[in-house]
Amino acid sequence: MDRIERLLGEMTLAEKLGQMTMVASGYAVTGPVIVGDSTESIRAGTLGNLLNMVGVGHVNEMQRLAVEESRLGIPLLIGLDIIHGHRTLFPIPLMQAAAFDAAAWERAAHEAATEACADGLALTFAPMLDVARDPRWGRSAEGAGEDPWLTARMAAAKVRGFQGASLDSAHALAACAKHFCAYGAMTAGRDYAAVDVSDRALREVYLPPFEAAVKAGVATLMPAFTDIAGVPMTAHRALLQGTLRGEWGFDGVVISDYNAIAELIRHGVAADLTDAAVLALKAGVDIDMMADAYRKGLPKALEQGRVTMAEIDTAVRRVLRLKQQLGLFDDPYRRGAQPEPTAVLAERHRFARAFAARCAVLLENRAKTLPLPANLQRLAVIGPLADADAEMRGPWWGAGEFAPHVGVLQGLRANLPGVELRHTVGVAVTGSEAGDDADDGKEDVQGGIALAAALCDDADAVILCLGESSTMSGEARCRAEPGLPGHQLELARAVIARAHTHGKRVVAILFSGRPLVIPWLAEQADAVLWAGFLGTEAGNALADLLVGRVSPSGRIAMTWPRSVGQIPLHYAQRSGGRPENPADHYTSQYLDMPNAPLYPFGHGLSYTHFSYANPRVTPQHVRRGDSCTARVEVTNDGACAARETVFLFIHDVVASVARPLLELKGAATVELEPGETRTVEIRVDAEALCFPGLDLRPTWEAGDVDVWLGPCADRMKLLKTTIQLQA
Ligand code: NOJ
Repeated sequence: MDRIERLLGEMTLAEKLGQMTMVASGYAVTGPVIVGDSTESIRAGTLGNLLNMVGVGHVNEMQRLAVEESRLGIPLLIGLDIIHGHRTLFPIPLMQAAAFDAAAWERAAHEAATEACADGLALTFAPMLDVARDPRWGRSAEGAGEDPWLTARMAAAKVRGFQGASLDSAHALAACAKHFCAYGAMTAGRDYAAVDVSDRALREVYLPPFEAAVKAGVATLMPAFTDIAGVPMTAHRALLQGTLRGEWGFDGVVISDYNAIAELIRHGVAADLTDAAVLALKAGVDIDMMADAYRKGLPKALEQGRVTMAEIDTAVRRVLRLKQQLGLFDDPYRRGAQPEPTAVLAERHRFARAFAARCAVLLENRAKTLPLPANLQRLAVIGPLADADAEMRGPWWGAGEFAPHVGVLQGLRANLPGVELRHTVGVAVTGSEAGDDADDGKEDVQGGIALAAALCDDADAVILCLGESSTMSGEARCRAEPGLPGHQLELARAVIARAHTHGKRVVAILFSGRPLVIPWLAEQADAVLWAGFLGTEAGNALADLLVGRVSPSGRIAMTWPRSVGQIPLHYAQRSGGRPENPADHYTSQYLDMPNAPLYPFGHGLSYTHFSYANPRVTPQHVRRGDSCTARVEVTNDGACAARETVFLFIHDVVASVARPLLELKGAATVELEPGETRTVEIRVDAEALCFPGLDLRPTWEAGDVDVWLGPCADRMKLLKTTIQLQA
């Protein structure tokens, strides 16, 4: 009999339920701060999993209690939200997406796993795979943006990066695909609010990233807090048992979200904790995070015959098997046994800097404002996010609070040694924050703004660092008006007006975990660089871009609206029967603004210009089961070497179900020297040209499919060629 079956045979019900329970410790840096009586439960063998513990000493001490002092010596599974780095932080996922580079996503996850493992951890609650089409949602920061193809690619890369070739490696973390599913479609961009999406939207938009994670071998999965059409995901048998386990064959561990099982009561589908526990177990949830519904509710449910021991054993078996796969039974201390060598850290920082530079997006660059001229003598660096090292972390910083990060001012100081930098905050990030410049009194705000404007007078150029603080995005950080917070727009107006009177250029660097609604700034600033949150090396990476050591190449993975009224706005719209036509009143449009976004998906400038020619696809007649290759010639017409991302979108012209006007099916990046031309190739499997038909099953329909190649999701900038799908 194998170890797991033998253990199952020996375990009491309480011990089994312990394996199905996960409890948060405090951030144990100065001493273990386990909630309630967890230390005792670990010894008693009635608690098998922990989250939120940092510090290898404490992790190992908890592990020791489980392994050496509990009756059966079953090791703990200890996890943390390692979303975009552990101590060394990489750009937030939304910015990583902008690099359109699966190898870099994988490497960042691998580096994060290595650091987290050195802290003794074995599980991360990542990647977050929620397609996000509403910038009001603070969790837009955590995923790959609005597109299912892109999110699916990131899903696979992150799973490979976290888990590596084998889970039992001392550098591998079990990954967790979350939040299954359609969490990003919550009502009005408000976290935890109800979701009501069609089965088609599930099949086309929200499920594919999870399917990709399952195909990549993800070890665990977390259902969303939200419901779909009244069925909370934590109790969603059709999607968890039917689609996930049945159709896709996922046999890993399903971990509830924080307290989500108990929240089935608030949802109104369970009367009490026992009811809630029954619903979750029947849906296939193996681990109860923080609700204590399994330990409290399942004994009674078992007694009443509402669940069976076999159902409990199935869950326990999955948890034990994961622990075995992670190598925890053989050597519970394998992670965290060795501190990392310093050279590894230095190399990781080099990667973090280069990667961060690739993730920033140049949104505007009028009259070649950037890169900054080489003869600069004095630079005004203004704004609440200019000297804000800790803010560079962005949301979900893992153990990042224990590591230093480089802000803009620090980065400029290090990289522009001969330039005099003059800095003032101007205003606080929000009007109500405490701090030197943060007094919301009108006079202080005006005083701060006047001081900032005055700094422009004898500067050669102005860098204006604006946006959100790191805690304004992430979980429970929704904004009904996601523009510049507080008095920052007033600051921008005053600074830009003053600078322009003296003929000085203003570069706005924007920090945020989401697209911001900034129509005025986009028009008035001479250059706008979206930093999002770039992590530990943010300041150095931004300096590399500002001085032109690196040409920007990031592309937005989420559409930027002009106005909150346009939200939700994404590129993959359907035509409808009356598409927008300003010459025809009875068409789909606003009276007060165009439908077009401020920046379309894929937008992002560089310091050069690329032109496209000669798009073609071979073969032009495609059969199901084949593949085809699109080619387009791309030329760097400018004066500096740079990287271009080429997108391949399709549009199925006539189909049984109206298809989106553009659907992303491929992307490739190419680096070109000045004057260089290359043919970029993007291969597409014919299977990817199927879509959920009227019966929602993948359908192949003969007929014309337009293939659009080019730099972003704006048809005016794309080149079209047509292929024929053969019956
Ligand atoms: C709640 C969040 O929704 C989830 O993403 C996270 O993994 C857990 N809390 C644990 O921190």
